Amino acid sequence: MQHLISIKDLDCAQVQEIFNYTKKIKKHPSKYCKKLKGKILTNLFYEPSTRTSSSFHSAMNHLGGDVISINDVTYSSISKGENLEDTIITMGNYSDIIVLRSKFVGDAQRASDVSTVPIINAGDGVGEHPTQTLLDLFTIYEKFGRTYNLKVTFIGDITNGRTVKSLSKALENGCELNFRDTYNVNDLPESDVYYFTRVQRERGSEGFYEMTRDMVKRMPEDCIVMHPFPRNEEIPRWFDKDPRARYFDQMQNGLYVRMALLLSYK
Ligand code: CP
Repeated sequence: MQHLISIKDLDCAQVQEIFNYTKKIKKHPSKYCKKLKGKILTNLFYEPSTRTSSSFHSAMNHLGGDVISINDVTYSSISKGENLEDTIITMGNYSDIIVLRSKFVGDAQRASDVSTVPIINAGDGVGEHPTQTLLDLFTIYEKFGRTYNLKVTFIGDITNGRTVKSLSKALENGCELNFRDTYNVNDLPESDVYYFTRVQRERGSEGFYEMTRDMVKRMPEDCIVMHPFPRNEEIPRWFDKDPRARYFDQMQNGLYVRMALLLSYK
């Protein structure tokens, strides 16, 4: 059984295998509609989510499997004080895999220590978000045909952004990485990828920044602009039609990458 707690749990060959599978699924998604018939996934979310929880749900349904959704833990026995470990042990009796989003760094590891089924970390506080990284990497790979030898600039909430943490871990050995926190976004270096993130005010982050038309003019024509979403003010909607905007592709790739990941547990 392989848990996915950190993006570092996957080696290059495993990531490439997921990409190969993702490409095939994206071409013919209906070919895979019965592959996980009879399997059950638990979506256990202690923090809000739209993309991660829904794309895992959709991925499992596309593959013929079922989902137990605990998307608002206040309606589960967690509101009666049940601890994480007991919750994980319980849900391991009812399902074949658990997707866990939690509030605190290390929760996914704690869950994996007691779980009888694979745990997929869907974000542990300000820790990591490895499946977001897989879809981010796949989006970069689709554009450039590689995920190395690229200049990547991360913009926004560098301290509290778990998507930045995971993606930078995945790219740190092969790419030139630059980081621009909210207060110094005006001198963006020339890059292949600009990865914007929102200010995580719910985690105490402060500040405000917004992409400007001047900033966009200075970005290379063949770069891509990414964002894990949700967004706030940092990327205005006027940029959405720019061919460099790839955040809607990221969302769509989230479904196919997660289908490929689930199939890798078959
Ligand atoms: N990117 C991401 O994790 O989005 P959600 O919080 O909506 O799942």
